[in-house]
Amino acid sequence: MTNNITRREWLVGTTAVAGGMVLNSSVSAQNMSEMMNMGAPISKDNPIRYTNNENPYGINPKAMKVILEAYKKAHLYNFTIRRELIDLIAGIEKIPSECIAVGAGSGEYLMASGALAGITGGDVIVPHPTFAAITRSASALGANIIRVPVEDDLSISLESMRKAMTNNTTCVYLCNPNNPIPSIIEKTSLEQFCLEVSKKAMLVIDEAYFEYVRDDGYSTMAHLVKDNPNIIILRTASKIHGFANVRIGFAFTHPDTMKKLMTFRSGTTSYPAIMGAIASYKDTEYQKFIVDKNYESLGILYKMFKELDMPYVNAHANFVYANAGRDAMEVRSKLLESGILIGRKYDPFPNWIRISTAKPEEMEYLVNIYKRDFG
Ligand SMILES: Cc1ncc(COP(=O)(O)O)c(C=O)c1O
Repeated sequence: MTNNITRREWLVGTTAVAGGMVLNSSVSAQNMSEMMNMGAPISKDNPIRYTNNENPYGINPKAMKVILEAYKKAHLYNFTIRRELIDLIAGIEKIPSECIAVGAGSGEYLMASGALAGITGGDVIVPHPTFAAITRSASALGANIIRVPVEDDLSISLESMRKAMTNNTTCVYLCNPNNPIPSIIEKTSLEQFCLEVSKKAMLVIDEAYFEYVRDDGYSTMAHLVKDNPNIIILRTASKIHGFANVRIGFAFTHPDTMKKLMTFRSGTTSYPAIMGAIASYKDTEYQKFIVDKNYESLGILYKMFKELDMPYVNAHANFVYANAGRDAMEVRSKLLESGILIGRKYDPFPNWIRISTAKPEEMEYLVNIYKRDFG
């Protein structure tokens, strides 16, 4: 681990201890702002973000340095550097470089995949609820969207997805881990499903939260793309790498499908973004630090859910999904008064709230306010 991170971790740890002391006696947002040295006090207009599943620690400092330096060359059209990033990812994922495309976030390829499915018409099958981006471009281009409800335990059932397929099915979308429900699909049955379904329809697997998963029953399906032209895997640097507004994402697919997918690309990413991504993907220590902190933060939330008897889904990502026992938007508005911004309501579960993990000390703040307001 680098000195930078050790120091940063130490600082965070120290703040957490001090924070615990402050929070036990008083839970004011002002205390929290001072403790976190945030400058402007935490308020309704300057909330801590427990929404959008962002990285609370931000971009890796080493990558940030590279990004800022790269801006000196950002007036040049430099598209060749993309190859270096693609080759790096090919080495990490152990898939051929020609199966990888880099773009402006995975959102770019979600839209492109949706368009590719949409132009042929037919049905696009998605779990419900799930991340909606693919359904927007698919339906705008003429696809019919079929939503398959999650099970009673809120997991995705491959059996139900299978049953929803007909001769009209052109595409099946799976988000693994899912969002807003951070559940995962068991790897052996998923691989079987991929091999079977891809014979009949295109299969898009969105692995935006892949890096956070620690469960042995989980696996990427990236290894399938080189021999199965109907499979597209999506990844993003927006989450663990903190690149949400830098914009780097990837599509992994067979070269034949890649050609078609590329016709629907909406844009391209920038030289500073690519240079930053190269630095960030190389620094596995920082990624581990982010994942460790995520699980620490999840633990703080689980403790509260147990204390308050709130049902929740075991999280395999950087957010939780829990039953607040009251309208999610009501909870959201009330928490915002204390400078806490959580996720919105998702159909069809009006009482369930999605909370993205922030730093552990910020989670303690949320827990104190939540218990005060709803405990
Ligand atoms: C499941 C899922 N896929 C894709 C994205 C979009 O990510 P990107 O920033 O790479 O476009 C998100 C963002 O929240 C997401 O939750």
